[in-house]
Amino acid sequence: MNPQEINEWVSAAKLAFAVAGDLDDLKAARLAHTGDKAPISLASRGLGSLSPDEKASFGKIIGEAKAAIASALADETARLEIARDQKILLEEVVDITLPAKLTHAGGLHPITIIKNDISDFFLAQGYSVVEGPELESSWLNFDALNIPADHPARTMQDTFFVEPLSAGLVLRTQTSPLQIRTMLTSEPPIYIISPGRTFRADELDATHSPVFHQVEGLVVDRGISMAHLKGTLDNFARHMFGPDVTTRLRPSFFPFTEPSAEVDVFFNGRWIEWGGCGMVNPKVLETCGVDTNEFSGFAFGMGLERTLMVRHGITDLHEIVEGDLRFTRQFGVGL
Ligand code: DAH
Repeated sequence: MNPQEINEWVSAAKLAFAVAGDLDDLKAARLAHTGDKAPISLASRGLGSLSPDEKASFGKIIGEAKAAIASALADETARLEIARDQKILLEEVVDITLPAKLTHAGGLHPITIIKNDISDFFLAQGYSVVEGPELESSWLNFDALNIPADHPARTMQDTFFVEPLSAGLVLRTQTSPLQIRTMLTSEPPIYIISPGRTFRADELDATHSPVFHQVEGLVVDRGISMAHLKGTLDNFARHMFGPDVTTRLRPSFFPFTEPSAEVDVFFNGRWIEWGGCGMVNPKVLETCGVDTNEFSGFAFGMGLERTLMVRHGITDLHEIVEGDLRFTRQFGVGL
């Protein structure tokens, strides 16, 4: 063992580390040049058999040699780790310029949109929005609305009766039972609308559907007149069809209103029937325990599908019920 030899070990280790192509190579080189059987390790272990003077001088030289090897190893480890990380980054590179696949986030059906819109419109005027069950008692759907069992209106609205018939339940044919539910549970003044699903035993065709939607309106307060009804419907129609639309009331008949009217809108150059309305029949108010000497009211009801069809020139109801996204997207829904 002499200093010259020790220098050669250091040089050999440095060279082996420097030519290592990756961290595996470096590990092999580290074991060869610093492991138990490496010359520097053997020399280090052999120090014990030297004289004290030699031990001191060689100990210093070997210590410095070990430090030099460790420092070279650290440098090359850092170099190879950087190389490895760069290789991984290159392998995992993502081409952010590739066109993304368009995904649909989902959106609201036009019927839901118009329902929300109508609700917001009336909420802003102080109305409440109420909802009721689709499976309704026939007393609330008919009798309380002054439609007795033998009344033609009951068969006019082809009703889905629900078994057992003795339970007296129907799929509601109209949202009008919400008038009764509201008057039975709250005191006037009452200002409500009730949008919701309604059912009639019709075949699905261009203008009929067994499941459709209506919105009901009911106001009961002191001094309510037909003028309030007309003003309310005018505002509602303008909100639905645009500021230039005009409405007219045509005398009609509904058992729960007296007098009753159909409300038409003049839209795109012609009169179109929009819904039914009238002053709440005093019989209905009395059934619900409302004092007719003090209070009067108006009510209205219209179809949401019909409103959409008129407003957008939709001629086939299938478009609304079938859920084809090409139709839905035309309404600017976030899809
Ligand atoms: N319920 C009626 C129908 O389905 C519509 C209607 C007419 C509702 C007159 C009303 C009303 O509130 O006053 O045909």
